[in-house]
Amino acid sequence: MKTIGPKDLPLAEFHNALLTAVAPRPICFASTIDKNDNPNLSPFSFFNVFGSNPATFIFSPARRVRDNSIKHTLENIYETKEVVINMVNYSMVQQMSLASCEYAKGVNEFTKSGFTPVPSIKVKPFRVKESPVQFECKVKEIIETGKEGGAGNLIIAEMILMHISPNVLTAEGKIDQHKIDVVGRMGSDWYVRASGNALFEVPKPARNLGIGYDVLPDSIKQSHFLSANNLGMLANAEQLPDADSISIYQHVNKELQALLNMSLLNDEKREAIHKMAQQLLMENKVLEAWKVLLSF
Ligand SMILES: Cc1cc2nc3c(=O)[nH]c(=O)nc-3n(C[C@H](O)[C@H](O)[C@H](O)COP(=O)(O)O)c2cc1C
Repeated sequence: MKTIGPKDLPLAEFHNALLTAVAPRPICFASTIDKNDNPNLSPFSFFNVFGSNPATFIFSPARRVRDNSIKHTLENIYETKEVVINMVNYSMVQQMSLASCEYAKGVNEFTKSGFTPVPSIKVKPFRVKESPVQFECKVKEIIETGKEGGAGNLIIAEMILMHISPNVLTAEGKIDQHKIDVVGRMGSDWYVRASGNALFEVPKPARNLGIGYDVLPDSIKQSHFLSANNLGMLANAEQLPDADSISIYQHVNKELQALLNMSLLNDEKREAIHKMAQQLLMENKVLEAWKVLLSF
C-alpha cells in the first residue's frame, strides 16, 4: 500500500488523489441569487443527500486551493439562504461544465451556458428547465471546515419542494433509474454515466440475517473459481438448503447427476461443481447454487 498523510503531498496533488479515490460523486447544479437578485449557476460534486425527514442535502463550495478565494455560490447563499439543486443528466454535461467557468460576479451562468431558467415556487433562485429533477431548498446552516485553501463550506440545505420531469417517470409514477441517466464526477476530467451496463442490482439483505461469510465451509472459501462476489452472495443466503431439498434437486437436475456420477479426480469434480454453482449465481439462483455446492 502507498500510505499518505494529509500534508505529505503538495495540496493540489493531494486534492486530486482524494477526488480520484472518492468517486463517482453526484453533481449538485446549484442555482442561487445574490441580494440584488442576480442569478448564478455552478456545479458542485462535494454533494449528497443525508436524510429524508427532513429531506437534507449538503454540498460544499470549497475555498480555492490556488488562492484561498471563495465562490460566488457561497457568497450568494450567505446573502439569501436559498438554493435550487438541479440534478445533471448526460445530455446536460457539456453545458454544465461551461457553467463551472469562473465568470465574474454578477455574470449570469444561465445565459453563458445556455440553460433555461424557470421560476421556482417557494424560493427565489431559478430552476434549470433541462434538469430531470430539481429541488427547491432553504439553507439551514453553513459550516466552515477551515480557513485555508481547500477548506470546505458545508451548506446544509432542507428541501421544501421537488420537481420531477415526466420524461424520467415509470408508468407507476416513480423515477426510473435508467431514464434519469444521471452523471457523476470522478477524478481530473473524468465523469461516469449511470446507465446501460454500468447499472446493476444487488438485492437488499432482507430483515432476516444472512448466514455470514464465517459460516462458509473452507473448501468454498478457498475455491480457485468462486469470486469474492460469489462468496458474498452465498454468505447472504438466509439459510442453507436441508438434506431433503438437496437430494430432490440432485434427482431432478440431470446435469448435476451426470457430473456427480462421472469418474473424475476429486479436484476436477470440485472445480466442475464450483463452476456450475458460479453459473447459477450469475443467474441470481443462490439457493440452487448452494444445493449444487452441498452435493459434493
Ligand atoms: C462537475 C463539477 C463539480 C465541481 N464540484 C465542485 C465542488 O464540489 N466544490 C467546489 O468548490 N468547486 C467545484 N467545482 C468547481 C466550481 O463549479 C467552480 O469553481 C465554479 O466556477 C464556481 O462558481 P461560482 O464562483 O459562481 O460559485 C466543480 C466543477 C465541476 C465542473
